[in-house]
Amino acid sequence: SGGQGTRIAVVGCGYVGLVAAVCFAEIGHSVICVDNDAAKIRALQAGQIPIHEEHLAELLALQSSASLRFTTSIAEAVRASDAVFIAVGTPPLDNGHADLSFIEEVAAEISGAIDSYKVIVEKSTVPVYTSDWISKILRRNGVDPSAADVVSNPEFLREGTAVRDFLCPDRIIVGTCSDQAFRVMTSIYGPLLDGSYYRRRASADFLSHNPTAPPLVRTSPASAELIKHASNAFLALKISYVNTIASMCEIAGADVDEVAHGMGLDRRIGQQFLSAGLGYGGSCFPKDLKAFRSLGHEMGVDVALLREVERINERQIDGFMGKIRSIMWNLRNKKLAVLGLAFKGGTDDVRESPAIKLVRQLLAEGCEIVAFDPAAMTTARRVLPEEGISYVDNALDAMNDADALLVLTDWPEFREIDPQAMKVQLAQPIVFDARNLLDRELMMQRGFTYVSIGRPA
Ligand code: UGA
Repeated sequence: SGGQGTRIAVVGCGYVGLVAAVCFAEIGHSVICVDNDAAKIRALQAGQIPIHEEHLAELLALQSSASLRFTTSIAEAVRASDAVFIAVGTPPLDNGHADLSFIEEVAAEISGAIDSYKVIVEKSTVPVYTSDWISKILRRNGVDPSAADVVSNPEFLREGTAVRDFLCPDRIIVGTCSDQAFRVMTSIYGPLLDGSYYRRRASADFLSHNPTAPPLVRTSPASAELIKHASNAFLALKISYVNTIASMCEIAGADVDEVAHGMGLDRRIGQQFLSAGLGYGGSCFPKDLKAFRSLGHEMGVDVALLREVERINERQIDGFMGKIRSIMWNLRNKKLAVLGLAFKGGTDDVRESPAIKLVRQLLAEGCEIVAFDPAAMTTARRVLPEEGISYVDNALDAMNDADALLVLTDWPEFREIDPQAMKVQLAQPIVFDARNLLDRELMMQRGFTYVSIGRPA
């Protein structure tokens, strides 16, 4: 294919919506992106990206004003398109369930603007049966069954590598009962499916090395919706599993990185998502796990396994606090350097960040914190108390005269810091590495008290 582009509307300029819109334009479609936040739309029209995401601004700048437009009007976007992607937020309710009211509002608004056959695509992470509900909302708002089909097409991108994940996915899931809608989806992803896009942008640095065309898997809508939740829950399960193994390693005097590597060589297990640490955070895993568990519970399914994954994750912070206490004794008035505030490296996102949770506890215990994060200081300032914490603009300054260093986020650049320079800065050569980021042997050789996760101290 690679021929005629499809006219696409993307509703919601959040992480998923924005990345999808820019990438659909990039692979040859004509895209109109909608958000009800007028200030956000004005900024995007001026070429400003509201999130920190590698390659996104660069890719946005490559698009012509004809291939990518921004508007606040759903009606305008729907009329100008053949496929409408819904990528609005599904925030958690107090009971753990996802709040689907934005999806409902958007579906109702789309209904009013349908003037020809449209494929309505659910891109947000949603519980099973949401696509059925969207169909019902369309009907209730007077849309003829032949005028629109609903498709579930979950997105698997990660923050920090979102552009690459979108353009070079492991798989594309299309959940629909309609052959007509399936054909539209096949042509939308056509340039990836036939590899023509990868040839056109050969060796572009925003693509993975030697990208291969992803398989497109057609499923029922319910299966597609479950694939998304079940995948995230499984990845979270891997993390909690390796964190449990890490605790055993500490007692056995083994090294969790060696154990995980040895396990991961079994192709049935795989190397990825076996890094022990402070546990998972971010805007997806904690929320999705809760929503998935609530859903299973409501279905009458035994979800104890999922509950345990969450419980293990919650315990990681306390476990690490215990380690800090065991070396520092009293925490009151201790000056601690903190490297990393985001929920993981490569992002400015602090939502459900384990680093932020730990810093909050340390502040509550009377520590004085000097923090540095390459991208997340502005976002961290908004959520952390003002008292007791200051921010500096490089890693070594944070360590100046500190009683200990805490590495809380896996930014690769922290690995490059010279241990000798650390030693000069720190009042005491004590390092707590919550992400097993630094070279343990080197730190020991240089005489540091070096505490990490699941590795001999
Ligand atoms: C996650 C999934 O990886 C994506 O596939 C999915 O599309 C996305 O959620 C979503 O549902 O939107 P993301 O939240 O961006 O993506 O971040 P991850 O890279 O998955 O990391 C999640 C958390 O797990 C981070 O706090 C990270 O530090 C932690 N983690 C990850 C570990 O502690 N150990 C690991 O081995 C891997």
